[in-house]
Amino acid sequence: MIEIKDLRKSFGNIEVLKSISFEVRGEIYGLLGPNGSGKTTLMKIVAGILKPTSGKVFVEGIDVEKDPLRVKEVIGFVPETPVLYESLTVSELLNLVGKIRGLKREELEERVANFAKAFEIEEFMDSLIATLSFGNRQKVAIISALLHNPKVLILDEVMNGLDVKSAKILRELLFRFRKEGKSILFSTHIMPFAEMLCDRVGVIYEGKIVAEGKVDELKDFAKVKDLEDVFLKLTRGEDISEILSALI
Ligand SMILES: Nc1ncnc2c1ncn2[C@@H]1O[C@H](COP(=O)(O)OP(=O)(O)O)[C@@H](O)[C@H]1O
Ligand SMILES: [Mg+2]
Repeated sequence: MIEIKDLRKSFGNIEVLKSISFEVRGEIYGLLGPNGSGKTTLMKIVAGILKPTSGKVFVEGIDVEKDPLRVKEVIGFVPETPVLYESLTVSELLNLVGKIRGLKREELEERVANFAKAFEIEEFMDSLIATLSFGNRQKVAIISALLHNPKVLILDEVMNGLDVKSAKILRELLFRFRKEGKSILFSTHIMPFAEMLCDRVGVIYEGKIVAEGKVDELKDFAKVKDLEDVFLKLTRGEDISEILSALI
């Protein structure tokens, strides 16, 4: 479970997050917003990587600011731009991550083998990270975040670079995790992903949650047919047709 209470974050005198409050309880919660709206900043704070200016975040009841190390044990975080050790092979990296996570050898081997198979990277296990394609690096970042079977997942633009099949595999995995009661915070600026995956979405715009609810509720609320229109309405992007007509 993730609880975010009146969270604010400023860089210098620019307030990037403005009193954010919401909860994620055993569901897939989509944070939906245009570039620069504050999604990555918020997720880094929830993951204990960045300190808030004020407000509170609890992950599985643990105060993230007071005990960031314990929080890291219960979460799996896929950052927007994962940093991986370039000079290790995929197998070496996953083994290292598994050991740091305290997995027993057999368990680690089994989990690595299962994920490598699911994401179809078996043939790259002995390749250096530096030689991997963007999509395969993303798969390795995802597997690293899942190895210790975390209760809470924080996935920042996680579908980036995944091919259709891998995106489908990840989607099925997330549905399975939800069934197991895990809480998943998922950011995207791509509407179909949010619509396909999320139980609830929070639309974030200029550092504020401007709407929150089930996809259907938001569509009703904005009296539009799809989530993209809700999003455009709430983030003042509905003048897009004017922009387009000016271009032609
Ligand atoms: N370390 C930083 N220093 C100053 N400004 C930052 C920093 N990180 C992010 N920002 C600013 O905060 C705003 C939100 O950024 P970000 O959280 O990356 O948004 P999103 O992930 O929704 O695209 C942007 O205006 C960005 O320029
Ligand atoms: Mg971002």
